[in-house]
Amino acid sequence: MTATTATFPAEAIAAFSAAYPDRHQRLTHRLTGHPLLTREAIAALAERHPQERMEFNLGTLPLGIRPEDTPANGLSVAETIRTIDDNKSWIVIKNVERDPAYAALLDELLGELEPIVKGRTGPMEHREAFIFFTSPGSVTPFHMDPEHNILMQIEGEKIMTVFPAADAALVPPEQSEAFHAGAHRNLQWEEDFLAKGDAVHLTPGDAILVPVKAPHFVQNGDAVSISLSITWRSERSVAEGELHSFNRLLRARGLPLVSIGAKPEAQKIARIGYRVMRKLS
Ligand SMILES: [Fe+2]
Repeated sequence: MTATTATFPAEAIAAFSAAYPDRHQRLTHRLTGHPLLTREAIAALAERHPQERMEFNLGTLPLGIRPEDTPANGLSVAETIRTIDDNKSWIVIKNVERDPAYAALLDELLGELEPIVKGRTGPMEHREAFIFFTSPGSVTPFHMDPEHNILMQIEGEKIMTVFPAADAALVPPEQSEAFHAGAHRNLQWEEDFLAKGDAVHLTPGDAILVPVKAPHFVQNGDAVSISLSITWRSERSVAEGELHSFNRLLRARGLPLVSIGAKPEAQKIARIGYRVMRKLS
């Protein structure tokens, strides 16, 4: 691929390289106007996509919400997309890479970053893409995700406020351990957390690199917003999850916990310990 057809310009690749995998970073991209990312194309995708791979609900939510309190909007996904200007909703179409056209797009985008990623955190594994389609003014509550993620803004604007990963004051270790055991991604919000956040304003052509488990919340602007999220896992992200799961088992038995360092993939003895204990438990 030549530099003129690349989606991430050279300065975005340089910024990504300086930040990956530990820091969040604003990037730019050339994906705006892509035919797979128009409102019509996404509505058509939603009609053929497996229902269980889509989530949608009312977008006017407080920053902290218990998952069981998340209200439904009473419409189908297709109807929700058609009336998105007025229905104050939040839609995510998960695993769009199950569709061949979107799979090719994801491969193309991740291919531009792969040489840098491979050298730092090993091969890109478990590659997934998500499309977020949101009404004006909607909010995605405070939460964290288990993947390396780049959110690419396609239409409309949003402010993503990103917080440092591995800050026990924001996410207590017990909550991190429960997350890897299947707890919901939404986190408890306290107003005084705000001082630790970086509010990044994203308009079409902007993107943001979000590190693994860096908590964040998202506020949409005055127009319908379309974003594409491209994600991958790494040996580092998998090892970090294993060590938190190990600590959950140790904590339950009153045993001393493992200290999780900056390179959990190198904590080989603890990882073996986890596998052994998981088999025994
Ligand atoms: Fe997220």
